[in-house]
Amino acid sequence: MAMDRLEELRRRKAAAEAGGGPERRERQHREGRLTARERVELLLDEGTFEELDKLVRHRCRDFGMEKHIVDGDGFITGYGHVNGRPVCVFAQDFTVFGGSLSEANAQKIVKVMDLSLRNGCPIIGLNDSGGARIQEGVLSLAGYADIFLRNTLASGVVPQISAIMGPCAGGAVYSPALTDFVFMVDGASHMFITGPDVIKTVTHEDVSKEELGGGMTHNQKSGVAHFLASGDAHCLRMVRRLLSFLPQNNLDDAPLRATSDPPDREDPQLDSVVPEQPDVPYDMRGVILRVVDDGDFFEVQQHFAKNIVIGFAHLDGRPAGIVANQPAHLAGCLDIDSSVKAARFVRFCDAFNIPIITFEDVPGFLPGTNQEFGGIIRHGAKLLYAYAEATVPKITVITRKAYGGAYCVMGSKHLRTDMNFAYPTAEIAVMGPEGAVNIVYRRELTGGDGPDKARKAKIQEFRDRFANPFIAAERGFVDDVIEPRQTRPKLIRALRLLENKTDSSPRKKHGNIPL
Ligand code: HXC
Repeated sequence: MAMDRLEELRRRKAAAEAGGGPERRERQHREGRLTARERVELLLDEGTFEELDKLVRHRCRDFGMEKHIVDGDGFITGYGHVNGRPVCVFAQDFTVFGGSLSEANAQKIVKVMDLSLRNGCPIIGLNDSGGARIQEGVLSLAGYADIFLRNTLASGVVPQISAIMGPCAGGAVYSPALTDFVFMVDGASHMFITGPDVIKTVTHEDVSKEELGGGMTHNQKSGVAHFLASGDAHCLRMVRRLLSFLPQNNLDDAPLRATSDPPDREDPQLDSVVPEQPDVPYDMRGVILRVVDDGDFFEVQQHFAKNIVIGFAHLDGRPAGIVANQPAHLAGCLDIDSSVKAARFVRFCDAFNIPIITFEDVPGFLPGTNQEFGGIIRHGAKLLYAYAEATVPKITVITRKAYGGAYCVMGSKHLRTDMNFAYPTAEIAVMGPEGAVNIVYRRELTGGDGPDKARKAKIQEFRDRFANPFIAAERGFVDDVIEPRQTRPKLIRALRLLENKTDSSPRKKHGNIPL
């Protein structure tokens, strides 16, 4: 081999690895952020990374750009393993033109996205970017559109994961928004369409970067992000953990995980977890943790719409998606945010062959003008649609309240849920006894002293008649009323039956979910 070729190759690869140079790398470290290359190494199983397009260069000759050429053009792309399974990956290097997207490095991303789609493996993007490379104009916008198209085509085919690990502005936020899960690093990452300066000019609002688009903002307020990490290394560990629950693609099954937790384990503590009084809150997470393998529950969007809990767990070694009303927050009511949060999760599980287990304790949809004007009707319909559409194994456990429309929505039998269980404490009715009496006996129970006693009697009558699981069980809307301690064995036996479930929907191009 000609030595000069070898030397050139080594020199150019070393230049690619140096990125924007030691000063910018130093700044990155000073700000508590790792470099793109360090991130890729931490994400992947040791020694498995194969880099592609390390010698790609940008082609911009305007604004003096021809004097600033870095091999690889700032993006690191390639493939490797996570937990022994192949993944495709790209990472934006903020030290090279602020991680901005050029025509050339967009093509690098497109290439690994196509590889991931053709070969059925997850694609992970580590984002740290100032958006479209300003010097390249429409070429850079075109690059974004090429990526957005692939995000959309890959949706529901391979899991797509985005980690936001620095400032991400403009086009840099829309690709992550199209992916399945968005991680953010607390204090170090930001997402916004336009930054505080533009906002100040246009709307005269004063807002800090952190308040506008920091990790907590998107995890708590906007719901754009699903996970909040305390630093880069933590974030990448969380991505690896998430992947351990997911299949490689929509034709694959999620990986099994060995457990020593017995499948027939009963838990007597569950018998007393639901309080005697119907209005006393309790933490539904307590139920989940007692039921799943090894008490190991990976919660998704834990800071957003806390009145519903979603996340992944294993049962008898098989991954499952958990959706649970949370009586400890807003009494577990369904509102706009919780409906959208759960609907997207249900659709993800359905797309990727992950059974859905629902724990239900819901007094209904949250009343109020705020919710009605915000469109609770169409947003609530999303959750209804998602449950009805899902053909993966579906199991629902009603622990206490299943009232009104929320009864129908939360994986009721009528939405082709496979197994519906209820605890003896379940209350299944059109509405709570108090509300029902106020409507049905409005004329008789107005004014005077007597009506209060009469009202109490009517409330009790309603409670005795409807606030139980037996009428639903008599109709077969509930398959079994179970003792809470039996929840784990009952779920596992049902999941074993449903392992080879097949179900289908009418042929269509696609449905029209009420977006
Ligand atoms: C070219 C960019 C750049 C960009 C940053 N840089 N963004 N170069 N194109 N979009 C360069 C800077 O010139 C600087 O170069 C280096 O990256 C680091 O940037 P700083 O500003 O020093 O970093 P920081 O203070 O941390 O601020 C980061 C930032 C800010 C918040 C991202 O750089 C910024 O606001 N950038 C512009 C964001 C933006 O408006 N992008 C275009 C959006 S339009 P030197 O050489 O000094 O190190 C868009 C359209 C797509 O994306 C729409 C699709 C739907």
